[in-house]
Amino acid sequence: MEQQSVKRILLGITGGIAAYKAAELLRLLMKQGMEVQVAMTEAAGHFITPTTMQGLSGKPVFTDQWDASAPNGMAHINLSRAADAIVIAPATADFIAKLAHGLADDLLSTLCLARNCPLIVAPAMNREMWQNAATQRNIAQLLADGVRVLGPDCGMQACGEEGMGRMLEAERLAQDIAAFFQPRRFLGRKILITAGPTYEVIDAVRGITNRSSGKMGYAIARAALEQGAEVVLVSGPTALAKPHGAQGVDVVSAAQMFEVVQQQVGDCDIFIGVAAVADYRVAQPSEQKIKKSAATLTLELVPNPDILAYVAGLPKPPFCVGFAAESEDLAKHAEQKRCVKNVPLLVGNLAQQAIGSDDNELVLFDDSGSHVLPRADKLTLARLLMQHIAQRYEGASK
Ligand code: PMT
Repeated sequence: MEQQSVKRILLGITGGIAAYKAAELLRLLMKQGMEVQVAMTEAAGHFITPTTMQGLSGKPVFTDQWDASAPNGMAHINLSRAADAIVIAPATADFIAKLAHGLADDLLSTLCLARNCPLIVAPAMNREMWQNAATQRNIAQLLADGVRVLGPDCGMQACGEEGMGRMLEAERLAQDIAAFFQPRRFLGRKILITAGPTYEVIDAVRGITNRSSGKMGYAIARAALEQGAEVVLVSGPTALAKPHGAQGVDVVSAAQMFEVVQQQVGDCDIFIGVAAVADYRVAQPSEQKIKKSAATLTLELVPNPDILAYVAGLPKPPFCVGFAAESEDLAKHAEQKRCVKNVPLLVGNLAQQAIGSDDNELVLFDDSGSHVLPRADKLTLARLLMQHIAQRYEGASK
């Protein structure tokens, strides 16, 4: 499996109130394993200090074109050559105008002009400034020049007005920047994913569920989106926000999840069953709260439909990936499940490490044997898993 190389970002900050969000963006980019070098305009220093950004990045922050610490006196060349992408966040109307006209009168604008790597800008300004014909002309020029523009967003602005122009939230920017570097392996492919737990009603206030948080399934949905797929995410009850761009369908019970999967599976290319679906439901749930009594209470449970087995058994099934959370003998039980459910790829994980946690370790079982994806955060694992699925899917569809 090919290694994902560490991406180097030059984070440029210009002088707008949204500069405070750049600190969080820096932290999130580094959390995703990126190396970040910060350069700021003089105006940006009025909103956030270089010291803050230095403290967070662990690197000196460049602000001055004439910085004597660059031995060759060419900070603009050194910085732009050392980056895989330049991200300007926030990008003010003034800075966007400079970029559109190729001006280079400070370090940041000069290194943008001198770049030989992609440029990504996240506009942030008052709504009237954003709507102004001059700004719109400049943005159109940037797009024509191949610059990637992320946002802006609509909503309440620092000036108290409401409208288009606020910078995208750091979380969303970090997602989009990470996606920018992912190969578009699944362009034109529809991937259907189940995630989270299901909840089977016992009575008006009680139910049977499990501790699945949805984190693994949502991470896989995000990785699939990053790699260009159209994603339908069918989710049991979780506290998570759907990844931007996914078509989310919320369900509660296994029966509802089954119904939605049946509706969606027709034109899907890949099905990934990450959900911890309840194997049983209560035969006769009570509409009213069951009253406590001294007598033993027995609930009759009936089996739920097996969604993964149904999809894998379709006359023309999509490429099916199952999951298995086991508390012991992972390899034995996972291989058994792969055979019983008749899926080409089954992903095993240890329940006690996997459920609810941010990190996981996966073992992939397919015809070629088993393959370990060592312990890492779930998004990193999801990206590697999608890479593996792409190889198997391409092999299977030849
Ligand atoms: O959500 P997190 O907190 O991040 O945790 C992730 C996870 C541990 C839940 C996930 O990684 C995982 O392992 N999910 C599968 C849990 C499981 O053990 O499922 P199972 O053995 O009951 O089912 C095997 C496969 O059949 C799964 O792909 C499951 O989605 C599917 N299945 C099961 C029963 C059923 N009625 N319908 C199904 O589709």
